[in-house]
Amino acid sequence: APTVKQHDFLVIGSGIAGLTYALKVAEYGSVAIITKDQASEGCTRYAQGGVCAVLDETDSVADHVRDTIVAGAFLNDTKAVEVVCREGPARVLELVELGAEFSRNSDGTLHLTKEGGHSNRRIVHAADLTGAEIERALLANARANKNIHFYEHHMVVDLVVDEYGGTLHCFGADVLDQRSNTMTRFLGLSTMLASGGAGQLYPNTTNPHVATGDGIAMAYRAHANVSNMEFMQFHPTGLYNPSGSGSAFLITEAVRGEGGMLFNKAGERFMTSYDERLELAPRDVVARSIHDQLMRHEDEHVWLDISHKPRGEVLHHFPNIAAKCQELGIDITRDPIPVVPVQHYTCGGVATGLLGETSVQGLYACGEVACSGLHGANRLASNSLLEGLVFAERAVNPSVAHAEHALRHCSRQLHYAAASADFRGARGSRELTSALGGWVATRRQELRDIMWRCCGIVRRTKELVAARDYILSLYIETKAIYKNYGINTQLVELFNLATVAELVVSCALQRKESRGLHYSADYPHSDESQRRPSMISTSLKSRY
Ligand code: SIN
Repeated sequence: APTVKQHDFLVIGSGIAGLTYALKVAEYGSVAIITKDQASEGCTRYAQGGVCAVLDETDSVADHVRDTIVAGAFLNDTKAVEVVCREGPARVLELVELGAEFSRNSDGTLHLTKEGGHSNRRIVHAADLTGAEIERALLANARANKNIHFYEHHMVVDLVVDEYGGTLHCFGADVLDQRSNTMTRFLGLSTMLASGGAGQLYPNTTNPHVATGDGIAMAYRAHANVSNMEFMQFHPTGLYNPSGSGSAFLITEAVRGEGGMLFNKAGERFMTSYDERLELAPRDVVARSIHDQLMRHEDEHVWLDISHKPRGEVLHHFPNIAAKCQELGIDITRDPIPVVPVQHYTCGGVATGLLGETSVQGLYACGEVACSGLHGANRLASNSLLEGLVFAERAVNPSVAHAEHALRHCSRQLHYAAASADFRGARGSRELTSALGGWVATRRQELRDIMWRCCGIVRRTKELVAARDYILSLYIETKAIYKNYGINTQLVELFNLATVAELVVSCALQRKESRGLHYSADYPHSDESQRRPSMISTSLKSRY
């Protein structure tokens, strides 16, 4: 039987959403933060531009709501948008209280920058390293909290779910300690999934290597509803990498917010031909315009130019980007920056309600892993850190209430879950042989290339069908190996990536219109009769 550990609250992931929730819920009991790498390594730390909040007196919550819904191509859940825009400012100010140091004006007020799709200046930032500063402050507080226990280099393989009183409940998670190569069953009264998105589905992404969609895949295996997976966001301006693939360095949208302009290789300011909002149109529009330019002229990148702004201002606002570009011989105060669209954000995810609840009792989700309805068909810049903050807070009361309920009514079930050695998937952990390691690496690369070719910025039904065929066979093959061979990180990640790829392609095939981030050359227009989120729900019997 596996080793068992018990905590009141389990948190899977250690970015802004998981840490915010952990800090708040730690008032009510012991918390385990289970995280795949070291705790600081996740997407939060790489967020550059900032976190938006209505703080300027000329701004309004109604304007933030409208900008979010316009960017989201009217597919957003209006209630989710309203709560995030209304409660966001208080949550951002709490970060200041926790010690996050944001950029300020000379009078001491918070400096607000601008990004695409925003009708006002409302982006709070720490120069161009906002996420790193937020992660630093949250982690320092969490590490100092004696109710919070960190399990780093621990990968959740599956959620422990069972039927209780006619409904599905989550009792915890089966976890691989990657250092000792042993499995442990973590039991918790409430479980918060905050493990981020699936950027690693694509060859070029701003996401770090840990973003393999694990949370979405395991929630799907646990029969939670999953929504809007076709809406994969491509950031218009990743730093062009001539080697063609790998993690892409982000050039924050704030560069365009502060006046940066896009030019094609012929020197034309091409956004004038696409959208009257020019470089500050929503991301899907700018990314598609760049893609079109690259296809038309067979160019490898376009140029982003901020060199017309005063040198001191540019270096003050974008020190990190300036230093990175300098390493490559580009002086951003004089030269344009070569940029291309790169995968950036998974708008879909585990479907959640206004309190972060999923369709499985005792399982909550927030941040990029979740689909709260805030982003609709395209996320507005700087709404993601904000979403994590707001729903982490909203999930505290219901998950504490659930924990109390579980303690009173489910203890028999918890004992059952603890005693049972019925780990989902393979039973033991095992290192990959070098032959299998090579197979996993090759398949992972193939999957990414197919996703980019067939399910990237512009999609076609024929290519989506070809991608689905490839993914289904990969899924079946990987699952068989995974069940019979033994658990290890690379295999579980490939299984999760194949699972999430299948969800993305299925949702993309279902939507026979173009909306927001889903652009189909076969159905190039929006169709109001299809203006509803896509939803994948599975019955208990259909899986495993
Ligand atoms: C950026 O700095 O451009 C990223 C902001 C975001 O993705 O919200």
